[in-house]
Amino acid sequence: MKTIILFACLAALATANFTNYKVYRVTPSNAHQLNLVKGLESMKGFDFWSKARQVNSDIDIMVSPKVEGQFTYILKHNSIDYSLLIQNVESVVQREQLTKLMSPAVPKGKINFEQYHSYETIVDYLLQLESDHRDIVEVRSIGGTYEDREMVMIKISTGGSNKPAILIDATIHAREWIAPATVLYFIHELVENEDNRHMIENVDWYIIPVLNPDGYEFTHSSTSNRFWRKTTTKGEICDGVDANRNFDFHWMETGASSNECSETYAGPEGFSESETRNLKKLVESLGSQTKLYLTFHSYGQYLLYPWGYTSDLPEDWKTLDDLAHDVADAIYAVDRTDYTIGSSTNVLYAAAGGSDDWVKAVGGVALSYTIELPGGGSWGFDPPASAIKGVATETFEGLKVYHAYVEKNF
Ligand code: ARG
Ligand code: ZN
Repeated sequence: MKTIILFACLAALATANFTNYKVYRVTPSNAHQLNLVKGLESMKGFDFWSKARQVNSDIDIMVSPKVEGQFTYILKHNSIDYSLLIQNVESVVQREQLTKLMSPAVPKGKINFEQYHSYETIVDYLLQLESDHRDIVEVRSIGGTYEDREMVMIKISTGGSNKPAILIDATIHAREWIAPATVLYFIHELVENEDNRHMIENVDWYIIPVLNPDGYEFTHSSTSNRFWRKTTTKGEICDGVDANRNFDFHWMETGASSNECSETYAGPEGFSESETRNLKKLVESLGSQTKLYLTFHSYGQYLLYPWGYTSDLPEDWKTLDDLAHDVADAIYAVDRTDYTIGSSTNVLYAAAGGSDDWVKAVGGVALSYTIELPGGGSWGFDPPASAIKGVATETFEGLKVYHAYVEKNF
């Protein structure tokens, strides 16, 4: 009976949205092929899940059934290498929803790393940590979102003054679920695992697991869109701003769109979104205490440092690069997960208005990184919930390297 109800619910709720949408993995092998593929990005019916924009690197593209014929025609006639990664995106979305429905309800204030959680569950967990660990945990809002949700931050500190701080956020892009899951694991390890006590003795932590809760909730609701990336700000024709194009530093200069309907719409002006303004205010109020900024995304396995607005490297790029290599080595040692390292323009693509650039250039935090966690491959955008633990634990090894660097150098 229970299963019948479950399936009836699924049938009623699941959007028909992604039926027969496919995901292709495309690998251009020369500049001409790359340009052809790039040209599709702004076209209706194409959603670039990963944008490794270099010759010989994979690009995953979700293609609507309407344009699929055209798409494969272009690939074939230009001898572009490709493979079919996901046959029917809708069935992947349904499988994910089914897993969610079948997993046991999380008791209020608890968390686990076998499921992707709603924003409410995440916030309840943080509040529970605060009431259980008043000596080291403080939870507060850094401001409200467009839909009036609180942007919740946890501060982990053993007290005292003048300690260097590490600032971490995740989920500026709503659909990148592995990012908040990983960051929650960090929080759990820092607060609840005595073995990591040394990580909070000399360094303060400020962590915002979900920077775009409106968008995140939208991706979780079964009647909406699992692949929503932007904020949810109402537009004239299309809603949402890509918050990671909205920071006011070389805003809109490159790799961003002025078209509302684009996935990389930069907004009507820099800092048009409350989400980005609230992060800006936080960075300003922490001032020179912050020594390291990490912003977690998915997917692609990249450790990126500025700049995103130019292919020029920052003066201190060697410091950024060396540290990234140490971090990547530590992650690799766990399970051979391989990260690509470089400036975001040079190893990924140019895109101005990202939080990393602004935090470094204007916020004054020299060490600023965007971390693209692993994706789900044929499983979907994110790894299946059963793989959260693996990603989170290996990434935590990288975090230990970051922590050791900050502790030693500041
Ligand atoms: N995937 C991320 C994005 O598109 C990469 C951001 C890298 N940083 C940058 N400033 N472009 O937002
Ligand atoms: Zn992202």
